[in-house]
Amino acid sequence: MAEKVAIILAAGVSSRMNTKLPKVLHEVCGRPMLAYVIDACRSAGVEKMYIIVGYGKEQVIERFGDDKNIVWVEQKERKGTGHAVLCCKEYLENFDGDTLILCGDMPLIRSEIVKTLIEKHGQESAAATLATAILDNPKGYGRIIRDGYGNIQGIVEDGDCNPQQKTIKEVNPSYYCFKNKTLFEALSKITPNNVKNEYYLTDALHLIIAAGHKVVAVTAVAAEDAIGVNNRQQLSEAGKIMQRRVQDRLMKAGVTIVDPPNTWIDARAEIGQDTVIEPFTYIHGQIKIGSNCRVGPFAYLREGAILKDDVVLGVFTEVKNSTLGDGVRARHHSFIGDAVIGKNVNIGAGAITANYDGKTIHKSQIGDDVYIGPGTILVAPIDVPSGYNLKAGSVVNAGDIKKS
Ligand code: UD1
Ligand code: CA
Repeated sequence: MAEKVAIILAAGVSSRMNTKLPKVLHEVCGRPMLAYVIDACRSAGVEKMYIIVGYGKEQVIERFGDDKNIVWVEQKERKGTGHAVLCCKEYLENFDGDTLILCGDMPLIRSEIVKTLIEKHGQESAAATLATAILDNPKGYGRIIRDGYGNIQGIVEDGDCNPQQKTIKEVNPSYYCFKNKTLFEALSKITPNNVKNEYYLTDALHLIIAAGHKVVAVTAVAAEDAIGVNNRQQLSEAGKIMQRRVQDRLMKAGVTIVDPPNTWIDARAEIGQDTVIEPFTYIHGQIKIGSNCRVGPFAYLREGAILKDDVVLGVFTEVKNSTLGDGVRARHHSFIGDAVIGKNVNIGAGAITANYDGKTIHKSQIGDDVYIGPGTILVAPIDVPSGYNLKAGSVVNAGDIKKS
């Protein structure tokens, strides 16, 4: 098989999002959109990536850091998707393999689709392979133009469509596999002859077809694999679909989610077998929950929360940057922040850690088998030894703890 690299387009300004943040950093289920696209490439076996950045490039590069397999390529002026790909010329002009092209605003792309695309490209010895999808509402997408025999002739962008073309529901989700040399040859010939006055990548495809090269398509990929995020409505739509995927994965791994539409779980969260997530629970961040836990209803887990096994978190309980040992119970109205809590600790209704004194965050350390009565305020920094009993309604400072 030919060697493969990927180009990911992520330089756009995104006027339709009405945002100052680079579009690809907007989050879907807790992760920036671009992260999913990078993952899809990797899982499909493509390691080397050229990511085109422009608007907000420092922020994007900072977020994805020093990954040896990523080459950051700057597109100084946004002149269209074709121009963006051409920015890789100095790296790829003489590359004799295949180049996969994806957009950073397609977080829903799955590695399976990328694999299918690559396989078809290889089997057919095609010069270019694209995907197509049928959408009920194709507005905003490039339309696939076919001749009377069903052969693909090209792609016409939404803004350039005539009224008849506007009715076409088969669209370009915008992921492709090209023979690299054919791609760059065609790109050198495209012109900005369209309403946006941009260099379209889709025009390169047209030129490749017109030159008689073989172009094939993976047709009718699922509509949800075609969603590009251009505005906040599409961002929320993508979030909804991704949330369902996250929950499906967890349910397959043996997690019970009582009411999926009323539960939100970060894509990075790890949850153990036979844990039950009750409705209206919000789990945000790279958190870890063990097995046989019961979380919610109305629980809120934030960055750094680690629940070991058999933990019970009930209504209106918030956990942030804390580790709760096996069998900890905090059933009602607690806030646990910056604490390390041992095994089988009972945290009574409304008991909280006071982790912030207005200037600094402080830590709480609580041993095993501690009983924390309802309404207790643990003023951090504090260290409560194992077996300790804190009566209901007390405000406990470090000095109040009697070491035996
Ligand atoms: C593009 C496709 C369209 C397809 C749709 C699917 C073209 C011309 N059109 O349209 O056929 O149906 O995606 O979602 O390719 N970008 C750059 N530099 C630029 C311009 C864009 O890096 O100069 C990046 C953007 O950041 C984005 C991606 O390329 O990640 C796609 O650009 P966008 O403007 O969103 O294209 P669409 O109008 O959605
Ligand atoms: Ca787009």
